[in-house]
Amino acid sequence: MKKIEAIIRPEKLNEVKSALDDLGFHGMNFIQVTGRGAQRGVVHQGRGGQAVTVDMLPKLKLEVVVSDMAVERVIDAIIQAARTGNIGDGKIFVSPIEEAIRVRTGERGEVAV
Ligand SMILES: Nc1ncnc2c1ncn2[C@@H]1O[C@H](COP(=O)(O)OP(=O)(O)OP(=O)(O)O)[C@@H](O)[C@H]1O
Ligand SMILES: [Mg+2]
Repeated sequence: MKKIEAIIRPEKLNEVKSALDDLGFHGMNFIQVTGRGAQRGVVHQGRGGQAVTVDMLPKLKLEVVVSDMAVERVIDAIIQAARTGNIGDGKIFVSPIEEAIRVRTGERGEVAV
């Protein structure tokens, strides 16, 4: 199993969610985060004409644990749904998951995700 963490634009929430629903992935977390990427935030013009850097940009972190077999499908679906082509589209991280347990039944492993 793998955990896919995708930082996405907040306005892409519904598109990403329904893309994953369409693939049959229903359990996931959406966490509000603030962060910055390679551009170190964005620069706005202040009232006095001065440059104001904002490097705490609101994003959503999608967290979904899937079987190894599903990883590439899920990544592709997230990219398709979340991409605008502009800077700040987000980033996807993949990490291994040792175990998953459904509390209600005690089921373990891929059947539990
Ligand atoms: N290396 C990283 N580790 C953890 N979080 C990151 C990392 N890079 C970006 N993020 C998070 O992802 C958000 C979006 O990043 P962003 O899409 O701007 O990445 P980027 O590398 O700057 O790519 P782009 O050039 O397309 O903007 C950031 O606001 C931050 O929350
Ligand atoms: Mg960026």
